[in-house]
Amino acid sequence: MSNTIKRGGFSSSFGVLAATLGSAVGLGNIWKFPYLTGANGGAGFLLIYLLATLVIGLPVMIAEITMGRTAKANPITALQKLSPKKSLPWWLVGVAGMVAAFLILSFYSEVVAWVFAYVVKAIGGSILSSDRHVTESAFSTLISDPVQSLLWQWGVLAFIGGILLMGVTKGIEGITKKLMPVLFLLLMLLCAVSLSLDKAADGLAFLFRPDFSKISAGVILTAMGLAFFKLSLGMGTMMTYGSYFRDDQNIPATTLRVMLADLFVSMLAGIAIFPAVFTFGFEPAAGPALVFITIPAVFSQIPGGQLLMIAFFVLASVAATGAMLSLMEVPVVILHERLGMSRPKATLVTIATLMVLGSSCALTNSTLASFKLFGMNMFDLFDFASSNVLLPLGGILLAVFVGWVWGKDKFQQALSNQGALRNHVTVSAVFFLLRYVSPLLILAVMLKGLGLF
Ligand code: PFF
Repeated sequence: MSNTIKRGGFSSSFGVLAATLGSAVGLGNIWKFPYLTGANGGAGFLLIYLLATLVIGLPVMIAEITMGRTAKANPITALQKLSPKKSLPWWLVGVAGMVAAFLILSFYSEVVAWVFAYVVKAIGGSILSSDRHVTESAFSTLISDPVQSLLWQWGVLAFIGGILLMGVTKGIEGITKKLMPVLFLLLMLLCAVSLSLDKAADGLAFLFRPDFSKISAGVILTAMGLAFFKLSLGMGTMMTYGSYFRDDQNIPATTLRVMLADLFVSMLAGIAIFPAVFTFGFEPAAGPALVFITIPAVFSQIPGGQLLMIAFFVLASVAATGAMLSLMEVPVVILHERLGMSRPKATLVTIATLMVLGSSCALTNSTLASFKLFGMNMFDLFDFASSNVLLPLGGILLAVFVGWVWGKDKFQQALSNQGALRNHVTVSAVFFLLRYVSPLLILAVMLKGLGLF
């Protein structure tokens, strides 16, 4: 059925890079990376995360994009098309990806809601204070108010839905292309300010001088989960974006650039936040609240701080928007191409589902505070189940698919743009990692991290 549907696509090479980067860079860099690094001991965690990104993230990303571009279809159809033996249900990986997308969107949209709310709070000026009690209570007042939490989340969902209704090329490409450069500039400015603070050196030491005593199997799993989450891997997002790639795009080169730029943004976020944490006596392990309580305190110390703070939360909103667009694209394109819904209808169904499912995360700190499954509230459970279980599992299956089912010849053909690129060595190295290293490594980290062996 999918063959009859005309697909959109990215029109220029820069558009491809900007949109892919727009998916990777998001609250993962600005919110998740700093708080996980802070909660897991700093530099040691950072080092493992870097290793996971290089050894696992990079090859899996190349695999996903290549599969998507070759099949030119949504993840479910792509796996069906590329699978030589139709009897094996590889397409289930695409279904699992869609489940992961809904779980991630449920809590992600709530964090985006906090960011949007903070733009308004920053304009109002009420959160600008160096007293940690003031910034902490401003954040907890927001998240413990069920009406505010829910309305902001629904507002965010409606906003993103509106952009998606504009269509693939104009919507995603147009918006990310304009906003990405602004994001880099604003973040650099923040770093400069933070590095001039009194205890900047302590913050940098925390971020860059490893202390391995805090590393456990669980911490390693979290670092690997972050690597998947950061690069939007293991759930078909990059496969979907790959399906919009141009045939002459150099996939390994594009992927490497996206990975490096993404790491760069995370490092900038870390450098902007940790010097401030140490200077103002915040707790590095403050958890998801870290960015929201630290940033206002920093800005309260600088002339013109209010304007910079508005800029920071606008920047976070920009980053979050690109990432959310790509997350929503997975269910939307599956509903569109598999169930024959029009794109507008598929978008509306996705938004409506998220308004219901996501509200369990929006209400986690208020109405549903005592509701737990597996000892976790819904926000933590959705985060854990996606980053630490579904994404790595998707990663294993995709690596096995390319390494053992699709095979080297077809992979080589696709990655070299049918022989136009001379990248034999790169392709062989990536294929080796996918066939032997990534699946075993991910499996070992998962089993150990989940306490299964
Ligand atoms: N990579 C995004 C971030 O770091 O904020 C989050 C994300 C987007 C995860 C898309 C997964 C995904 F498919």
